[in-house]
Amino acid sequence: MDTRPIGVFDSGLGGLTAVRVLRRILPEEDLVYFGDTARVPYGGRSRETLLKYARQDLRFLRSFDLKAVLIACGTVSTTSLDVLQEENELPIVGVVEPTCRRCLAVTKNRRVGMIATLASVRSGAYEAALRRLDPGVEVFCQPCPLFVPLVENGRFRPGDAVIETVAREYLTPLLERGIDALILGCTHYPLLEEVISSVCGSGVALVSAGEESAFELKRLLTAQGLRAPADRRGGAEFCVSDRAEDFEDVASLFLQEDVHHMARRIDIDQY
Ligand code: DGL
Repeated sequence: MDTRPIGVFDSGLGGLTAVRVLRRILPEEDLVYFGDTARVPYGGRSRETLLKYARQDLRFLRSFDLKAVLIACGTVSTTSLDVLQEENELPIVGVVEPTCRRCLAVTKNRRVGMIATLASVRSGAYEAALRRLDPGVEVFCQPCPLFVPLVENGRFRPGDAVIETVAREYLTPLLERGIDALILGCTHYPLLEEVISSVCGSGVALVSAGEESAFELKRLLTAQGLRAPADRRGGAEFCVSDRAEDFEDVASLFLQEDVHHMARRIDIDQY
């Protein structure tokens, strides 16, 4: 039994897709969330910059006495996970492997699509993991650089002409390849789930990176005897690197609970 908190981080709001699932499947655990809202989006940046940011994010989170970390960011997971795992002795879970395993469990025709940030697509990490797990799978990747800025600006609702036009443009080439499963390889994308599924239709199963990594973390905590006692109620602390109020507005909508006055701004340059 271990009541120390779990650290979760992302470039901004996207990691809340993992927090939402963690709160449901591990309600007894304390969470510390960091969203690097001053430097979002991460997705177009170089590997070197991403590693620098990821190290700082993790150093900040490790100012808490954590028992494990969930990198709830596809971009950091695809570019920096191995280095962060080597440099830190605590368990660190990324999004790539668990998401790929789930995707291969749901595809029937073994033609799968993967949408993510430019940096994630460039890294080839999702493709490599899918092919390692199933050498016969066909993978079609599409970077979606406009999705994260639109989500961070609250433009993720069905009926919004801008997001619907952008989604159709990004998804049509994948649909033309006959995919029956689509990896949402960036943790911001589940916020677009309704928009994406209305473009893709019911014949394409959506697999969310944030959700699958939360289940993976639960398995890991259980296997290593790190779970908190089931009879306690965990809390959450939210930290961001820019205006807390902006984060709280969208986070409250997304988590479907009022997190106003719960976020704290920190100076990430100090880490
Ligand atoms: N949520 C991040 C990811 O999963 C978004 C990256 C970005 O900030 O562009 O990739």
